[in-house]
Amino acid sequence: MSIPTQVYPVIWKEDRVVLIDQTRLPKEYAIVEIHRYEDIARAISTMIVRGAPAIGIAAAYGMYLGAREIETDDRDTFLARLDEVARILGNTRPTAVNLFWAIERMQKTAQNAAGAVAEIRETLLAEAKAIQAEDLRTCQEIGDRGLEALPKTPERLNILTHCNTGSLATAGYGTALGVIRSAQGAGRLARVYADETRPRLQGARLTTWECVQDQIPVTLISDNMAAHCMKQGSIHAAIVGADRIAANGDTANKIGTYSLALVAKAHNVPFFVAAPLSTVDFRLETGEGIPIEERDPAELYQIGPTRICPPGVEFYNPAFDVTPAALITAIITERGVLKPEELKQLSPI
Ligand code: MRU
Repeated sequence: MSIPTQVYPVIWKEDRVVLIDQTRLPKEYAIVEIHRYEDIARAISTMIVRGAPAIGIAAAYGMYLGAREIETDDRDTFLARLDEVARILGNTRPTAVNLFWAIERMQKTAQNAAGAVAEIRETLLAEAKAIQAEDLRTCQEIGDRGLEALPKTPERLNILTHCNTGSLATAGYGTALGVIRSAQGAGRLARVYADETRPRLQGARLTTWECVQDQIPVTLISDNMAAHCMKQGSIHAAIVGADRIAANGDTANKIGTYSLALVAKAHNVPFFVAAPLSTVDFRLETGEGIPIEERDPAELYQIGPTRICPPGVEFYNPAFDVTPAALITAIITERGVLKPEELKQLSPI
């Protein structure tokens, strides 16, 4: 299959959701067509679709698919069954708050919609499309605002990033990678350093793929090379995305983000988080309450078909960590570039 020039990880096509299968990149560009909400749930938990905003968008369409499968004309029965759809979609991945934000927004849309069940269904499809369109605009805004926050010297920057936060992780522009994209557009980017991002290698597999697609110069490093590169002076800024930001600015993101922030602090390299406000969980005072997903240990002990350690070993595979707000130079949102402690001034969206 030929690769389209603009990458959209989630597309609504006539009567179905079309996803890029991110588990198969970069070896193969394949799509998955989905008609039923339970298959959206499966696609989220198996990471066919991943990245906080993209998960939220997929779940929003999942809510519509679920609504379409509910066979009743009775409003109360419909809403009760839609809650069950929400529960199943919400049980897929615990950390990225965009998932719950999108599901709740869809539930409220259904509850507030006037008219017959058939009309509520159509309102839900329109809302899912709106969530997707908003994310595209929001990420472009984050890109533009992030550009202003970057160090003024040197003119062309080497920027390090972790995991994948690009088109594949959002509606189609990216958060941290969106800022990098905007820097490239403004002639301010020398090169991206992409952490490989063990154990699932989103940096090696997906970020480098996106950069090559968009002709963004990229150098792949393994996660444990960041300190060395910073000490050599090769990195001018680090920008990462987020899965959930607490009201005080503590930020959950892909495992390894915390150690990257510590290393950046030690070398006086500015450390930015780029995320839409839908990633801020104003209900959580601090990062302590953020649930951290643990994934299959096979992600750790197996590379391809090969097991890399002997039997008898125990495993611990948290997919995210929480970077304390004190290590974050600024949080780049669609409403401005904020010091972590300034987040509270913004009202929830
Ligand atoms: O486990 P993943 O691949 O879904 O984790 C993705 C990340 O940690 C991203 O940095 C985050 O979701 C922000 S994406 C714009």
